[in-house]
Amino acid sequence: MMRTVVVVGTLLLGIGAVVAQQDQVKQTQAVMKGNGKNAGALAAMVKGEKPYDQATVDAALAQFEDTIKKFPTLFPDSIKGLKPEGDYFASPKVWEDRAGFDEHIKSFAKAVADVKGKITDLEALKTALPTIGKQCGGCHETYRVKNG
Ligand code: HEC
Repeated sequence: MMRTVVVVGTLLLGIGAVVAQQDQVKQTQAVMKGNGKNAGALAAMVKGEKPYDQATVDAALAQFEDTIKKFPTLFPDSIKGLKPEGDYFASPKVWEDRAGFDEHIKSFAKAVADVKGKITDLEALKTALPTIGKQCGGCHETYRVKNG
């Protein structure tokens, strides 16, 4: 009887851990999708598909800053090597080369800090967006893997 309780308890713990991992992955992906959405909104203005909108610019930069704050907690050891559903997942390199990953977070943070408060019109946005986009792409090149 005692043993059954222990086994069931262990199983439940195991399931709990898996759910926690998937929640973490979902949360990480939600943050990154937010980046994608905001970067897309900025790109649409640069391409002239949408009129320049200061509120959209400010919201995007605020979200990038928020991402930078969250980055250190978005990839805990518990989700290392997981291949979640969706278009992308984090490369094992995030964990194997944490120092390199942290460098990318830092340079992304610097790029965002450099343009913050300076994007006040379309011309400024056109100059700033590529410097930010380079940071997104630079990190993805090494640390993000396409599913499938
Ligand atoms: C320091 C590294 C780093 C930087 C900088 C970075 N990303 Fe990512 N990004 C990742 C990693 C790692 C993943 C894979 C995580 C996952 O999808 O589970 C990812 C995933 C994504 C995804 C796919 C999310 C999904 O699962 O569907 C989008 C979209 C994205 N990033 C957009 C951006 C944009 C836009 C920027 C710049 C404004 C940016 N990222 C900056 C590391 C970074």
